[in-house]
Amino acid sequence: MKVLIVGGGGREHAIAEAVSRSSRVDKIYCAPGNGGIAELAECVPITPMEFGKLTSFAKEKEIDLTIIGMDDPLVGGIVDAFETEGLRVFGPRKNAAILEGSKAFSKDLMKKYGIPTASYETFDDPKEACKYLETAKFPIVLKADGLALGKGVLICQDLEEALDGVRQIMEDKKFGDAGNHMVIEEFMTGREVSVLSFVDGKTYRLMSSAQDHKRAGDGDTGLNTGGMGNFSPSPFYTEDIDRFCRENIYSKTVEAMAKEGREFKGVIFFGLMLTDEGPKVLEYNARFGDPEAQVVLPRLKTDIIDVIDACIDGTLDDLDLEFADKAAVCVVLASEGYPVKYEKGKLIKGLDKFRGKEGYYCFHAGTKLTDEGIVTNGGRVLGITALGDTLSEARRRAYEATEWVDFDNKYMRHDIGKAIDEMEEKK
Ligand code: AMP
Ligand code: GLY
Repeated sequence: MKVLIVGGGGREHAIAEAVSRSSRVDKIYCAPGNGGIAELAECVPITPMEFGKLTSFAKEKEIDLTIIGMDDPLVGGIVDAFETEGLRVFGPRKNAAILEGSKAFSKDLMKKYGIPTASYETFDDPKEACKYLETAKFPIVLKADGLALGKGVLICQDLEEALDGVRQIMEDKKFGDAGNHMVIEEFMTGREVSVLSFVDGKTYRLMSSAQDHKRAGDGDTGLNTGGMGNFSPSPFYTEDIDRFCRENIYSKTVEAMAKEGREFKGVIFFGLMLTDEGPKVLEYNARFGDPEAQVVLPRLKTDIIDVIDACIDGTLDDLDLEFADKAAVCVVLASEGYPVKYEKGKLIKGLDKFRGKEGYYCFHAGTKLTDEGIVTNGGRVLGITALGDTLSEARRRAYEATEWVDFDNKYMRHDIGKAIDEMEEKK
């Protein structure tokens, strides 16, 4: 069969890698793809928001299944556009992708169905928001309602900062129309864990837990980024926590969406905070995480096309989802200066060293194929993932593999998964 993947980052590279292992797939296309994906798929120069061009392409090439990697097209209704044309597609429809697309929607859903999350209020008038802040407790969290490239969240230490935050979000429209509405919520403390799941409208199957490192610098210093690396599974996601989340978060969310007439088929990414009062939902995403996909999908043993079929057909209950019993660590190689200012177009050397190395992956995030070869084309350039029997081993191997590639201005954190390493050594 022929598969089209929509997107062009490290996550879509990980999806393409999993699809390339399927015995059912003969040909993969990716729109727009990137320099690394081009080794597995034919890259097509159509951007993810060009729904008309994508559906025409899918019809012309007789694509059997399209997989949507990114949030923007999902929230914009790409799945509905494909279904209207009679095309088979994996991802939530627009009325379900709102779970990620509107923080006010997801907060109201959690409140209505008793799913644990931070207490909150929603506002569409900046004056009302400022009035509310006068009597609020600090720190406090301000969130633009809509998609803002994962950046629409401000954690404010005092009233002055919060009033300024409301102005940035609602008046200066720092995050664009995402700031027409906003959520103000209680600040939570604890460890953050991401859990990915496949969902078929009524049943969910968990993939694995993962933990991100969002700050740019070692020791969690510096600016917030899209993620500098992560590891999976998270040793903090214990059996007790898993049981609690299954009872109080996962099934309730899937049922709530169905009851609201917004049946969710696709991937739900549960962003959790493990607080002293128990796990609470920080956010939902309606897709695989990036770079969570890069530490989870390489371990998927079940044919990904069988899993996706079960999600679309509503038969996930009958499927045995299998993962290799391994740990994974992903270290992001970025361009020095990310996330603020950085140069692009630097030649990447050593990519061929990954060929034939089992358990090592070099996922491309921001790269481009040119006449000279593959060059850097973004802040986050590569995600180097390695598997291991333990997290420590995976970590050692991932850092070993970061030395195989080189480019001018190569930058990485040196402490991805370090806390875990120390924990394992103590045992
Ligand atoms: P979100 O996009 O909602 O996940 O927010 C991005 C990041 O902001 C999260 O990964 C957390 O680190 C932080 N954050 C969001 N909401 C809260 C909260 N209520 N309390 C503390 N930190 C938060
Ligand atoms: N890694 C976080 C996200 O994909 O939103």
